[in-house]
Parts: sequence; structure tokens; C-alpha cells
Amino acid sequence: MSNYHIKHLEEYYQVYRKSIREPENFWEEVAEEHFMWRKKWDNVLSWDFSKPEIKWFEGAQLNITENCIDRHLSTRGEKTAILFEPNNPDEPAEHISYNQLYTRVNKFANVLKSKGIKKGDRVCIYLPMIPELAISVLACARIGAIHSVVFAGFSSTALSTRINDSDCKMVITSDGSYRGAKTIDLKGIVDDALEDCLGVNSVLVAKRIQSEIPMKEGRDEWLKPLLDDASEDCPAEIMNSEDPLFILYTSGSTGKPKGMVHTTGGYMVYTAYTFKNVFQYRENDIYWCTADIGWITGHSYIVYGPLANGATTVMFEGVPSYPDFGRFWQIVEKHQVTQFYTAPTAIRALAKEGVDLVEKYNLSSLKVLGSVGEPINEEAWHWYNDNVGKKHSPIVDTWWQTETGGIMISPIPFVTPTKPTYATLPFIGIQPALMDESGKELKGNQVEGRLCVKFPWPSIARTIWNNHERYKDTYFSAYENKYFTGDGALRDEVGYYRITGRVDDVIIVSGHNLGTAPIEDAINEHPAVSESAVVGFPHDIKGNALYGYIILKDTGESRDQNNVRNEINQMITEHIGPIAKLDKIQFTVGLPKTRSGKIMRRILRKIACKDISNLGDTSTLLNPEVVQEIIDNAL
Ligand code: WT7
Repeated sequence: MSNYHIKHLEEYYQVYRKSIREPENFWEEVAEEHFMWRKKWDNVLSWDFSKPEIKWFEGAQLNITENCIDRHLSTRGEKTAILFEPNNPDEPAEHISYNQLYTRVNKFANVLKSKGIKKGDRVCIYLPMIPELAISVLACARIGAIHSVVFAGFSSTALSTRINDSDCKMVITSDGSYRGAKTIDLKGIVDDALEDCLGVNSVLVAKRIQSEIPMKEGRDEWLKPLLDDASEDCPAEIMNSEDPLFILYTSGSTGKPKGMVHTTGGYMVYTAYTFKNVFQYRENDIYWCTADIGWITGHSYIVYGPLANGATTVMFEGVPSYPDFGRFWQIVEKHQVTQFYTAPTAIRALAKEGVDLVEKYNLSSLKVLGSVGEPINEEAWHWYNDNVGKKHSPIVDTWWQTETGGIMISPIPFVTPTKPTYATLPFIGIQPALMDESGKELKGNQVEGRLCVKFPWPSIARTIWNNHERYKDTYFSAYENKYFTGDGALRDEVGYYRITGRVDDVIIVSGHNLGTAPIEDAINEHPAVSESAVVGFPHDIKGNALYGYIILKDTGESRDQNNVRNEINQMITEHIGPIAKLDKIQFTVGLPKTRSGKIMRRILRKIACKDISNLGDTSTLLNPEVVQEIIDNAL
């Protein structure tokens, strides 16, 4: 078991150095020892960031579901693979063993085949956090279909954009979903979306809320009877290492969402290896990541990484506040959770409710706590460490992105000494670089700059679906021969990294990545709006919230501004989803612009953050007078 499980700091440095000096030998050893390949690779790595082109384990053949399921059957067939905890605490949890997972994935895969889905076809999955979500993901992978999971909180417009961008042939959904005390009509959202999606000819519907819903003749079918009739045997499609495994959309600072393409072999190796080390996973642990499988965190660290290690992974359908704010801790106690991985926004929301609800439950099973999605502030870090971890469960603050596929900077628990608000050290094989504005790399410690990565790692996204140029522009053109992350970071005196936040027009709200451009597009659809600009400002619980500056058209009619505010948020909900609603809306007569017509967001951001002491030189603006007007009316 060389290199697979790191146990102390010296070993980390030793393995890290090897992974940098001889990356190909290092990853080859990991890949060889811990996975099931149908055919070994001809070449470990070939890469060229200027094209960009990156290939890992070229020539190798495999199926990721054989690694996540089949190979565990002889040793762990009866072990729980997926532990499903329903929204309603009175509904029993479901323990799906590796044997049962095998049967359910195979049956589902045969249903997909019977509907004409083949290797390379795109299948959109729009499901709540119920077992069918993980199973349909794996069923696609079993037959080589490319899954595109869309988070079930997105609106019908957001869904149809994503379906059309990658030409999905099929949508898998449910009659509805439970979220706390609410039920949501998911199928209705799919029906609306599909009015604009001519390429979809099949919709498979899981039953979750037992509702009566319209089913479109010839297009929609209930899943259950199809699964009941399907064979339990579906041989895994043999995939090449670089065949696409999935597409997952993420927001950019401009334009439509980017369909990040992840491929098979490298993604499997990296997510499995990081899972094992970052969570120090041991055979009988019960691991729980509270993310939704609609995000990359769920893909890599609910489904693929844990299952590739034969782990038990908890899937929670509900929300942290239902039936009360003690739900997370109740689940930890009930299932004896050993690793708990969540987002700072959830920690802040729970901290606000006080410690009584934490202390009510026995959390002594916990060994490792994780944080992901946005910088964790010092206060939240201490609350988590003191009250949940009782000061003996290390917090792994894991920095990574949809594009990176797996965790990039993180402590290794019991190995790396932690430091509040620091993601600490690069993971094995990761070569970060901090760059200054002029494009020079900042060497040494105690420096701050833009975070890049100098060398490929196995799970880097290979392209943007149908738009390789945009992939190159976004990630590989800011700095020569480097992957640019879009984040700023500093390196302290011992080489620990602290992520300081986005340096582009992406805003992280409650851990969700939102681009300003699509939100502004949605606002501008309102008939009374002539122009808008959206920026972020700090928020106690969400990390950032959205502030919109909006110019209304002069129609001569008088309008109730509160109505317009509500309608604008309604518009955003319809186009993107409720997560992108504006917290503050300021109507204004103008927006500060440069002489070339570009909105000066820097100024708007400062005003939204109530930081107007240093707005910089505004005299060169096209319309410097609007700045004072905006300050005077700021919310
Ligand atoms: C952006 C990526 C990776 C899974 C969830 C988000 C921010 C993520 C951290 C962290 C500080 C973080 C970055 C990054 N981010 N984790 N531990 N500390 N910032 O994936 O939606 O692709 O967002 O989230 O700004 O660029 P994503």
C-alpha cells in the first residue's frame, strides 16, 4: 500500500516531493495499486496548457462503476454503500448494500438502454436527494452515457438552457420533492423547461411524493414498472480513460453557464485518492457530506470518491432546519457519523441558533470535520471546532472548484496542523502558484496574489462542452502555461494558503457560485428596467448577498417601487432560481461608467459594502456625478 494513506507530516512532505518530482511515476503507482482496469495505459500523462490539451492514463480502459461497485461485492457485498436519510425524520432510513446497489444500478442501466440511450449520449438528471439520483448517475456511467446533473433548485429556464447546451436526449426526474415542510412540483418545472427542448424524447419519472401529475403520452414514463421488469445484469461498457464521464455546469463571470467536462480515469483516481486521505477514511466509518449531488461536491465526495473506496456514504434528502435546527446533529447521533463535511454558510446558520441544539445530541462518533464552498470565517471556524468537534476533531478546510474535480488545497487530518481560515497545504500532486498583476510568479512565503496551478492533476476538467475556445480563454490565457482559478490567495510564513475570495465577477452566495451576467440578464427582462448591475456585499450567514443597482425606464407612468422589487426577484427566480434573488435593490438614475462604457463595478461594490472612504479617482468617469447620487441613496 505505497503512498495511498498518509499518516504523518513527514510522510506528507516526502510523498508531496515525490509527486512533484516524478508526477507520472507517482500517479502510475496510485492508479496501478488501487483500481480495476480492463486494460492498462500506454502513457500516464501528456499535456500542453497552451492548446490546452490534457490526457491522463491514455490508452487505458475501464468502467468507473466496476470500481465503485462490482469489485467490492466479494469483500463488502452486504456492507451499506448508500445510507439514505429521508426529509421526514419519522420515515425510516434506507440502507442500500453494495449488493443491492449493484442490482439497482444494473436494472436502471438496462432501462436506459431500452429507451435507446447509448455510449456518448447525454442524459439530464433533475432529481432531489433520493437514492434514484445516485443510482441514475451510476447507471449512466455503467453504459457510458454522459450524465448532466442539474441541481433541483434551478428554475425551468436554467434547466432548459442546460439541456439544450449539451443536447440531452432524456431527462430523469421525479413527481416532486420534499424540502423541509415544503413540497416542490419538480415534474411541472421539467414540463415547462421541455417546451423549449426539442431534442428530449423521453422523460423517466421516479415517484417520491405520491402526487397525481400529468404524464405526456409517448414521452413520460414512471420508472418503477420499467425497473421492475428490467434485467439485473448489465455488463459495464468498456470506456477509454479520456472518454467523458459527465458534464456539470458552473457559472462564469460572463455569458451562459459553462458545461465543464470531466473524463473517466483521472477523475476516478484523483477523487478516490483525495477522499481516502482528506477524510482519513477507515473501513467501518460512516461518512456524511451534506452537499447536494447537483454540485461537484456531491459528484466527487458523495458518489464517486466514497464508493471507489468501498465506503458507506450518507445521502440526506432534507434541510438543516427541519424539523428544527438540530437535524444535522440528530442524524450524526442516529447513524454514528464519523466524518462530517458541510459548508460555512450552514455552520453560520446553525451557530446563530445557539449551542443547545448541538449539546442535545451525542456527537462522540465524529472524527473529522470538513468545510467547503467558500472561505470559512474565524468565528464560524471556532464555533464548529469547539461545539461540534469538541476541539478534538480536526477541521479540513478544503479548497477546490467544479473545474478541479477534486480537493486541491486542504489539511490532512491528524497530519497537517490546522489554522483557522487557512486551507493550509497543497494536496499531493498539486503545484500552486501565486501571481502578481504583471504576470510574474511570487516566490517565497508571505506573499499575496492570484492563485494558479502550474502542473496538471488527474481530475482537471478537460474542456467546456462545445466550447474549447472559452475553456482556453477562461482558464489558460491570463497567465502563460498556468491554470488560473479566479481566486486570490495568500501564502503565510510557513507556506500555508489562505483563499481570500474571487477576483472576478463570480459571487459566492451560501456556497453557490453565481455569475453576475445571467442575473443582470434576468433583471433586464423586466419591462420597466433599462439597465442593471449586480455586486456582492458581506452577509452574516450567506457569506455574500446580492445588491442590485437598477435604472428604471422613464415610461411616464408612476410605479410602486416595492412591486417592481418583488417582480424583479420573481423574474430572477424564474430565470435562475431563488438562490440568485437580490437582498437589496437600489433604484438609480445612472451607473458609473468608464469612457468606453464599461460599468465600474469596483465602485458599486464599495458602496454596497459601505466602504466609501477610498473610492479611488472617479473624475475620469463618463458620469462622475452619479457616484454621489448613488452614495446618498445607498441602502
Ligand atoms: C469556488 C468554486 C468545490 C466545491 C464547491 C464549490 C470557492 C470553494 C473554498 C474554500 C475558500 C472556497 C472558491 C472557488 N471555494 N472552497 N475551502 N475556501 N473558497 O465549487 O461552485 O465550483 O466554486 O468556491 O472561490 O473558486 P464551485
